[in-house]
Amino acid sequence: MTTTTKLWDFDEIINRKGKSLKWDGFSRKGEVIADDMISLSVADMDFRTAPPIREALQQQIDHGIYGYVNSPTGYKIAIKNWFSTRYNWEIDTKWILHTPTIINAVAVAIEEFTQPGDKIIVQEPLYGPLVAWPKMNGRDIINNNLKFEENKYKMDFGDLMRKIHIPRVKILILCNPHNPTGRVWTKDELHQLGEICNRKNILVISDEIHCDITFPGHDYTPYASISEECAQNSIICTAPGKSFNLAGIHQSNIIIPNDKLRASFQWNNVRKGLMGPNIFGPIVTEAAYGKSEEWFDEALEYIYQNYLFLKKFIEERMPMVKVVETEGTYLAWLDFSAFGIPSLELGDIIKSKAKVVLNHGYEFGKLGSGFERICMACPREILQEGLERLASVFKSE
Ligand SMILES: Cc1ncc(COP(=O)(O)O)c(C=O)c1O
Repeated sequence: MTTTTKLWDFDEIINRKGKSLKWDGFSRKGEVIADDMISLSVADMDFRTAPPIREALQQQIDHGIYGYVNSPTGYKIAIKNWFSTRYNWEIDTKWILHTPTIINAVAVAIEEFTQPGDKIIVQEPLYGPLVAWPKMNGRDIINNNLKFEENKYKMDFGDLMRKIHIPRVKILILCNPHNPTGRVWTKDELHQLGEICNRKNILVISDEIHCDITFPGHDYTPYASISEECAQNSIICTAPGKSFNLAGIHQSNIIIPNDKLRASFQWNNVRKGLMGPNIFGPIVTEAAYGKSEEWFDEALEYIYQNYLFLKKFIEERMPMVKVVETEGTYLAWLDFSAFGIPSLELGDIIKSKAKVVLNHGYEFGKLGSGFERICMACPREILQEGLERLASVFKSE
């Protein structure tokens, strides 16, 4: 008799209590998640990461010495190969710089390439910190809101064409694919956006942290692959964090094809004393992009099946809640507006009555009002339990 050992099991329920923001709550906001609650909030996975990554980390841990290291180059080759084979985007390893997090990279770029009082275009509803950081640092936000038509979000190019002429607009922050709407921007959309921004030499910071997570029929296009002009006028923020559940390692890979922009960006890093990755960052990156594709593809399929499960469940059991079509990211964006409950109250009901932790729409700007964001990167049993609890509160028609 032959037995096969499963190398991974996405159905396994792993206790993350005491070890994660998602299940413990944001202590800096005074949030505590009680033991009887189900968390489907923060955008990370409740899965153990790929075996080759764990093996590579274990080897380094067993070595027992964690002193200074040279910044290795192997991990950059793994990044280059990943983008080349999966997305047909050819990058030079010298274009890749390190920052700990994506928000660090956005912060560095905004500080380096704008002055207080300059203006940054964003497309709301949008992942909150992408708007909060520029504001906290005295930059003005110009909203090129997404349009919500026939249950789908679209870019408003007419509005963008007007807004690029506002004095002191310097940067547009793109989220590709887009959190929280789940849009995977098409080549054509990115082309139009690039064409408009390039007219006024507006630098595009493209947050592509969710790039690998796309569902059938929707392909990710790296913004810098659209044209040489877009490549020369953009900063592409990538990381293995979302795809391989490594966000806590703080390893982001910022790809800047333009020599001058890259040198200025790096000089800002150096001025801050940010000299390079920690000892584990390159190791996990190389093992992820270089050896863990099979694990990733299976995780992605599991998440896609979770999405189909969620859609069916909500259609059957909570028909007043509308699921916005998720094209990518492992986040579903749910429209509760038919209940007519004010946004803050909706959040409170979900927490106190359903005992589920979600991200509330208002965290993504005014246009998020009446929506809730749910993370689907978890064992199906957890997702089902969370949905059952929501259905017990929101079943009415
Ligand atoms: C679009 C987007 N950008 C950035 C981040 C945060 O990344 P980091 O922790 O590397 O700053 C997230 C996390 O959810 C995200 O969804």
